Amino acid sequence: MTAQILDGNALGQKLRAGFKFKTDELAAHGVRPGLAVILVGEDAASQVYVRNKVNACAQAGIHSEKYLFASDVAPQEVFDKIAELNADPKIHGILVQLPLPKHFDAEAVLEAIAAEKDVDGFRAENVGALMQGHPCFIPCTPYGAMKFFEDAGIRLKGKEAVVVGRSNIVGKPMAMLLMHAGATVTVCHSQTQDLKAHCLRADILVAAIGRPKMITADMVKPGAVVIDVGINRLPDGKLCGDVDFESAKHVASFITPVPGGVGPMTITMLLANTLESAERALTA
Ligand code: GUN
Repeated sequence: MTAQILDGNALGQKLRAGFKFKTDELAAHGVRPGLAVILVGEDAASQVYVRNKVNACAQAGIHSEKYLFASDVAPQEVFDKIAELNADPKIHGILVQLPLPKHFDAEAVLEAIAAEKDVDGFRAENVGALMQGHPCFIPCTPYGAMKFFEDAGIRLKGKEAVVVGRSNIVGKPMAMLLMHAGATVTVCHSQTQDLKAHCLRADILVAAIGRPKMITADMVKPGAVVIDVGINRLPDGKLCGDVDFESAKHVASFITPVPGGVGPMTITMLLANTLESAERALTA
């Protein structure tokens, strides 16, 4: 068996084509959606992610603004910029790229973003709404993963889902979304004993650990759907996921590649959330 590839570039493009309808409708009301992206420091991967987000905005007809700060910037400067963007009617979404340098209180920075512009869905208020199943901005990476299931007709009700990783950005919201969709969810992490045994029970396996090729084929249940959230750089410069794709693809029924899987979907859902925010601002 060779798994069907869940192609994030193709699905992202399909969804983004649908966004044109929304941007046209907003334009008819004189509104151009706007996203502000803040990057602090010189982390190479973050620079690439931010560039990709800004480029994607341009292609989708979304206005974007990028604010770069040196890694040793005084946090107050960033708080001042957020306050300015909170008050700017051209801006419907504000994203502070994570991780932030160590001298920042990341939680305080995220909480400084106006709730209605929190298109990453990272503020505590938003997290609470997600947990309770209320309308909210769904964090972009798990939101993108859910779109794979929807598009491929993968049913989640009653399925065993295992999420490896418990981060606020991916693992926790992913588990919540899978639970809301009717899956029975296990969250594994660095203290989990016998990770393999848990993974082997998974009909849906989501790897969000940040360790290259940690999930090997012998940890994948035959026929499982495998979503690989990892983006790791190998010593030879090549990118790879948290799953050993080449071996796991012979065991899984569906699998996301790295690159070209979850990554483009994260960006697509960021655009979706920004559009939604602009729509909400219009009807507010
Ligand atoms: N760093 C890694 N993933 C993300 C994300 O989805 N949003 C932000 N703001 N930072 C990230």
